[in-house]
Amino acid sequence: MNAPAQLVRCLPAGFRFGAATAAYQIEGAHREDGRGPSVWDTFSHTPGRTLDGATGDTACDHYHRYPEDVALLRGLGVDGYRFSISWPRLLPQGTGPVNAKGLDFYDRLIDELLAAGVAPAVTLYHWDLPQALEDRGGWRVRATAEAFAAFAALAAERYGDRVERWITLNEPYCSAFVGYAEGRHAPGAREGRGALAAAHHLLVGHGLAVRELRAAGAREIGITLNLDRVHAASTLPEDLAARRRAKVLHNEVWTEPLFAGRYPPQERQTWGGLAGGPWRRPGDLELIGAPLDFLGVNFYRPITVAAAPHREADPERRTAVDIGVTELDPYGTRHTTMGWPVVPAAFTELLRELHRRHPRLPPIWITENGTAEADTVGADGLVHDAQRIDYLAEHLAAVAEAVAAGVDVRGYYLWSLLDNFEWARGYAQRFGLVHVDFDTLTRTPKDSYHWYRALIAAHRARTEEAAR
Ligand code: FCB
Repeated sequence: MNAPAQLVRCLPAGFRFGAATAAYQIEGAHREDGRGPSVWDTFSHTPGRTLDGATGDTACDHYHRYPEDVALLRGLGVDGYRFSISWPRLLPQGTGPVNAKGLDFYDRLIDELLAAGVAPAVTLYHWDLPQALEDRGGWRVRATAEAFAAFAALAAERYGDRVERWITLNEPYCSAFVGYAEGRHAPGAREGRGALAAAHHLLVGHGLAVRELRAAGAREIGITLNLDRVHAASTLPEDLAARRRAKVLHNEVWTEPLFAGRYPPQERQTWGGLAGGPWRRPGDLELIGAPLDFLGVNFYRPITVAAAPHREADPERRTAVDIGVTELDPYGTRHTTMGWPVVPAAFTELLRELHRRHPRLPPIWITENGTAEADTVGADGLVHDAQRIDYLAEHLAAVAEAVAAGVDVRGYYLWSLLDNFEWARGYAQRFGLVHVDFDTLTRTPKDSYHWYRALIAAHRARTEEAAR
């Protein structure tokens, strides 16, 4: 189980390694110590919304077991840990009274991390919007962006002295389009205008939060996007046009305002009459496009699209994802248990494309990458997850290739430290380096945990040697 020597050599000296999680997926303790409900509590408690009715009520019980989890991070030897702060734990109603016990929890977690030599990277919004704010319109309304800024200010003031890296939003694509257009995620809406307004207000919330974080003297500030490497099913003009629209929906909604100071030039071709919208105000682009210290990139798999014949004609009934595109899977490769094709070369392509397209791009951190596999604890008490090790080695090599081609990638947070609540897919998808038995909550490091630890140690030794 040696770390591949070649991988250690390919990754630049000083490259940093970490692991990632998110609050609702691991914490549990959903009603404890004054936490308010989030949209994910409501959604997961609504029959039919999640696989087998799974909820995050207990999840990994990280709220109580965080010392054990930090010890696992220490054992791994990671430089950093990316976790999210639950907004309704700090502000049970989204705005207004602060929950002191919620604040204390993250104080304890952060101090435990620092004592273990692990640098905290905080995500402020990993999808758990306080239900009270959803009841007043959620991300469809600007007031939610303003409330988010106040939450960011509170967190920065309390933890800013100890947090190395701040991520405003995680994958706003999913918040806006999976949550408000496809309805597969909380709050489960299927809307056109509402989803596009949500996309804009998420970006406004990001901009306002960046301002608060800067004012509080936060160290590194960025945003995490799940940008897609989009392939066209053929070179037919209609498929190429479908790819263009898909790139607007998946990528350019975010990258154009953030890094090019404009809304996507082809948004009309993508959304027709739904494009634009009264929610845009003068000054928003300046706010959204304020310089960042890094871009967080989450990558799992590429997508291929073709033109779809049907598209709802009536704009009022059209959802924001109804753009005349259908997804195909021509990848003749292995698929993970999520059903996602394993195509590491697409990771390199995505990073290089970003670098080419955006001269103003800040340094990149990979904030998520990993795989779900059918992991079980064997009779020997171990979890032999060879496929995860292959996936990780191939994707890290893909990152190294992008770096060699000139892309500035500084580090990699692996998704995920623990098996956890995989949103609508419940507990059936295991992404962890550490297996969690959801009956007993016993943690068992998988083979990939030991592999990652060896890789980190070997790479660190090489960096130290290079410095001598
Ligand atoms: C990403 C999410 C993360 C996790 C992985 C598998 O979209 O950010 O919480 O669910 O997918």
